Amino acid sequence: MNTLRKIQLGKSGLQVPVIAVGCMRLSALSKKDAEIFINTALEHGANFFDHADIYGAGACEQIFADAINMNDTIREKIILQSKCGIVPGKMYDFSKEHILKSVEGILKRLKTDYLDVLLLHRPDALIDPEEVCEAFDKLHSCGKVRYFGVSNHNPMQIQLLQRYLNYPIIANQLQLSITNASMISSGINVNMLNQQAVNRDGSVLDFCRLNDITIQPWSPFQYGFFEGVFLDNDKFPVLNAKINELAYKYNVSNTTIALAWILRHPANMQPVTGTMNVSRLMECFKAADIFLTREEWYQIYLAAGYTLP
Ligand SMILES: NC(=O)c1ccc[n+]([C@@H]2O[C@H](COP(=O)([O-])OP(=O)(O)OC[C@H]3O[C@@H](n4cnc5c(N)ncnc54)[C@H](OP(=O)(O)O)[C@@H]3O)[C@@H](O)[C@H]2O)c1
Repeated sequence: MNTLRKIQLGKSGLQVPVIAVGCMRLSALSKKDAEIFINTALEHGANFFDHADIYGAGACEQIFADAINMNDTIREKIILQSKCGIVPGKMYDFSKEHILKSVEGILKRLKTDYLDVLLLHRPDALIDPEEVCEAFDKLHSCGKVRYFGVSNHNPMQIQLLQRYLNYPIIANQLQLSITNASMISSGINVNMLNQQAVNRDGSVLDFCRLNDITIQPWSPFQYGFFEGVFLDNDKFPVLNAKINELAYKYNVSNTTIALAWILRHPANMQPVTGTMNVSRLMECFKAADIFLTREEWYQIYLAAGYTLP
């Protein structure tokens, strides 16, 4: 297998692997298994790791740092992204105080002096963008965060924030899979009266493309909101038949085809995987080498139940 190809992350100038390794489920692994998992990723050029302060209530970042045996030499070889702003079950908090405190915790758990990318996890209804700006300025000037982005934000929210920030928003992490593709289907059904035309995100896909903000699709294999995996799932017989047919054609697994469908979109997205299984991770990486035809991409789209007006 080739080493993962790279893309530019937003306006950052950072060259990053086209697939990010999500660490939300890392606390399910023993230290030894986490070590194997992370080292296998690195051997394939997957050196971009996605964290959040809330994953495993902080345990995922801790396990990561221990498993990779964090030191200065290793730190230079990897790209670390984490998120803050969620206080689980209670509120979203983009106050300066919370952002600064969260980053301190993240750096401590990850055993590093700096984050490459910090994302604001979910929009805070009480956001004061000037306060966020103060927090970001402080974090950037003391070298604790190199680049900033958001997650689950719509275009107006990004514009509001960007108006006050001194740094470009470089990434927006959003839920996107074949079965959760309303950001794509709404663009195909402009001005139609059907359900697929409902624009739930303010045209975030086109907005991000227009503004060089890299979309990082999260939960690329889940349907609903963490309801389960659509692959090999009886609820999606037509979709699975099509994916399996293409898997046979390309001599890869259905996992590879499902991720190749996201990567085929010309927006240069950087999907974030969630598997903790090493062989499945390899199947994900293979997707970077598959380029589905236009016809195949649409066949999968239609097999998922979407229609063309
Ligand atoms: N920004 C946000 O709001 C947000 C929200 C959620 C997640 N995320 C990020 O996105 C990453 C991915 O999320 P996710 O874990 O929900 O994504 P996912 O890759 O769609 O789901 C992974 C889960 O599905 C299981 N799975 C079963 N069959 C699979 C198959 N054939 N292929 C792939 N996975 C299969 C995996 O189990 P095995 O481990 O056994 O393979 C794992 O438990 C997270 O780690 C996190 O970094 C961000």
